[in-house]
Amino acid sequence: MRVLLVGSGGREHALATCLARSPSLSALYAAPGNPGMTSLATLVPLKVDDVSGLVAFAKEQKIDLIVPGPEAPLVAGLADACADAGIPCAGPTRAAALLEGSKAFTKEVADAAAIPTAKWERFEEEAPALEFVRRRGAPIVVKADGLAAGKGVVVALSVDEAEDAIRKLGMPLVIEECLVGEEVSLFAFCSDEKAVLIGAARDHKRLGDGDTGPNTGGMGAISPPPGFDRAAQEKALDLSVRPMLAEMVRRGTPFRGVIFAGLMLTNEGPKLIEYNVRFGDPEAQALLIRLKSDLLPILAALADGNLDHAAADFSDEASISLVLAANGYPDAAKKGGRISGIERAEAVPGVSVFHAGTKLVDGVLVADGGRVLTVCAKATMPEDARRLAYEGASAIQWEDKIFRTDIGL
Ligand code: AMP
Ligand code: GLY
Repeated sequence: MRVLLVGSGGREHALATCLARSPSLSALYAAPGNPGMTSLATLVPLKVDDVSGLVAFAKEQKIDLIVPGPEAPLVAGLADACADAGIPCAGPTRAAALLEGSKAFTKEVADAAAIPTAKWERFEEEAPALEFVRRRGAPIVVKADGLAAGKGVVVALSVDEAEDAIRKLGMPLVIEECLVGEEVSLFAFCSDEKAVLIGAARDHKRLGDGDTGPNTGGMGAISPPPGFDRAAQEKALDLSVRPMLAEMVRRGTPFRGVIFAGLMLTNEGPKLIEYNVRFGDPEAQALLIRLKSDLLPILAALADGNLDHAAADFSDEASISLVLAANGYPDAAKKGGRISGIERAEAVPGVSVFHAGTKLVDGVLVADGGRVLTVCAKATMPEDARRLAYEGASAIQWEDKIFRTDIGL
């Protein structure tokens, strides 16, 4: 099969690594890809949301499957354009990608499918929203109703904070009950009504140790989250994902792709916080290093609506992903530092390094983005995976390297 992978992050480098070892792969292209993928794929200089460019390239190169990494191409309608062009795509249509694009849509689907979730209301005007939070009190959660890269959510601990959030985020808004518990992310391959469990992870979104500092795309993940084993994950899939898939089929907008359900493990059981319509980054890296099955037939089957016989076997090791970022991230990351030591890191047993914000300048690898590399490790015991990943991370050097020291503690 000839495959076009869309994206340029650590998640896509991990996907490329899995796809490249498939016996069914005849050619792999990555748009735009990153320097870590050059030995696995041919890089194509197209932007991830250049839907017409991607489809034209896929037609010209007789691509058999498009694998989208991030949400941007999906929300921009890549899967719809692929369907029009007769090219299988392992990601949801724009209508199904609304599960990530609109908080209110997700809440409506969850209610229609009787999926446990926080009680909510949607507002199109400021005055009733302000009145609502004054009446309900804090803590309360205020969310912009659109794609906001994690920045559109305020967990307000006081009414003043909730009022500020309403004014700052603007309309439309979703305001919901604050859930209390441990947060986990659940991943599954989905096609129409079928879901095949991938696994679960816990992300660390804040920049600094001890969950301090600004929110980021994710600074590290562990898998599985302690106390949330595969039996609990399967149960959560039945409760929080399969009813959504059935509801999407009922609405005539079936979901095909990777679902990422953000769940709060409350005293009353798992409750849905949100869906994303793709793998997480850096969760994908921690999950995919444990994949034993061939990824390509699974993605091809989900794109064709034929997941029935797909088996996704993962080793039952623990895994961890550590993001090495550049100083200044998530605002203005410092670029240009010369990176060394990746080979030494990968010489540590069980360690893999994935690129994200890197660039080759005259054959020299330099930092070129906020999240620069992800160092991952797997081992039977979580503490060994953690130790190995940190050993790998310390072998890698460049000016301005920053990372959290408490992932997996
Ligand atoms: P979201 O973009 O919906 O994932 O929200 C970002 C983060 O806000 C989540 O990962 C949670 O930590 C937090 N959050 C969102 N909704 C709630 C809620 N109803 N109760 C408590 N925390 C929430
Ligand atoms: N790490 C969180 C995400 O990919 O959305």
